[in-house]
Amino acid sequence: YPKQKPIISLMRERLSQEILDLLKKIGEVADSMGFGVYVVGGFVRDLLLRRKNDDVDIVIEGEGITFAKAFAEMMGARINTYSKFGTSVIIFPDGFKVDVATARMEYYTAPAALPEVETSSIKLDLYRRDFTINTLAIRLSPEGFGTLTDFFNAQRDIKEKRIRILHNLSFVEDPTRVFRAIKFEQRFGFTIGKVTREMIKNAIHLDVFRELGGLRVFNEFRQILEEENPIPAILRIFDLGLMKIIHPGIEKHNDLIDQLDEAKKVLAWHDLMYTDEPIERWVIYFLTLLSQCDREISEEVAKRLMLAPKHKKLITGDRFHARNAYTWLTYSLPATNSDLHRKLSPLRAELLLYIMAVSANEEIKKAISHYMSQLRHISLSIMGRDLKEMGLKPGPLYSRILEETLAAKLDGTLDDRDDELAFAARYLQE
Ligand code: CTP
Repeated sequence: YPKQKPIISLMRERLSQEILDLLKKIGEVADSMGFGVYVVGGFVRDLLLRRKNDDVDIVIEGEGITFAKAFAEMMGARINTYSKFGTSVIIFPDGFKVDVATARMEYYTAPAALPEVETSSIKLDLYRRDFTINTLAIRLSPEGFGTLTDFFNAQRDIKEKRIRILHNLSFVEDPTRVFRAIKFEQRFGFTIGKVTREMIKNAIHLDVFRELGGLRVFNEFRQILEEENPIPAILRIFDLGLMKIIHPGIEKHNDLIDQLDEAKKVLAWHDLMYTDEPIERWVIYFLTLLSQCDREISEEVAKRLMLAPKHKKLITGDRFHARNAYTWLTYSLPATNSDLHRKLSPLRAELLLYIMAVSANEEIKKAISHYMSQLRHISLSIMGRDLKEMGLKPGPLYSRILEETLAAKLDGTLDDRDDELAFAARYLQE
């Protein structure tokens, strides 16, 4: 039997009224269809840990898809359905999503003349999950709404800050869980339990990762790199000998920890300066990890992780453009604004932050920071139309003149639109 206790007051304290109303409604609708219903997994874990989490995962005891269809229709939402897995995603008009899974009721005929026993398969559903901390469920049916249901001593593990698998084959069944264990351990400041640690070693020993699809490895690895502070997890991956799953050529060289620390600082700086400019944080850590790998290793990493073309380009192409810019900076500083602009403007923000992370040179960091905070925002007031009005026929000369005018503006010789026009006219004459 599961441990059960009401946690309605914690729900009221921590959840928004919208989410509470939504959960109640889900409970009522499922009940009217004769289905039991729970919210499960990370949502419940984070509620107990008092962390924000809006990923609502629902398990229906009955027909999840039938429920999702009815509920979506009632709420004016869309659904995507995956019949093979009995799952649906309900997508509300404002983009909010609710995942719905199915746990079918199972009936066992008891021996002798005893009545048929109905066993909730919610337990089985939860047993298939990765770690005990992810197996908590809260009942949503009107009768018992807000009852925390704990089959596998998850509350004890949360209290004792422990990541623990449910059975010894967990990592063999799904090797990506090794990465997830590390992610959760670092995110929550927990420790991977002793037996679980042994099982990780065992999985590495058995080389269960060999058959693991690159996409799945990449997905988990990227999630780790997106964590608030991924550095301890990255080091744990090295120490457990897991980085070789991605590529044996990715090494924990002497400068790596400093560079990763620097990447973290640079990202904090970026967050502070450019709050409304989202960047892909994982890219900076990923490039930093690969900074000493050559093109051949980069190609192999891209292949192993089955990277999409744009991500492949990032590590096999863009990274080397960034390196060229870095080399140029090393030999050319101090440089004019226009030269800085010319060299750095082809690089996206992530690549500039990457150069800052791997460069131990303060001058280079200052130059990039100057480009990012000032130069990249400077643009011309004049455009092609103005050149046309000067009598110039459209052609390749246009962009040349505009580039030269921008260069002059960046170097501070042009103050206003009239100066720009005069410069362009003079350039044209020459
Ligand atoms: N899960 C699993 N094995 C995996 C991936 C997921 O058992 N390889 C289970 C987990 O128990 C989890 C649920 O599926 O509760 C949903 O996984 P996910 O969407 O990754 O959510 P979270 O556990 O909340 O992770 P995160 O907080 O990083 O989103």
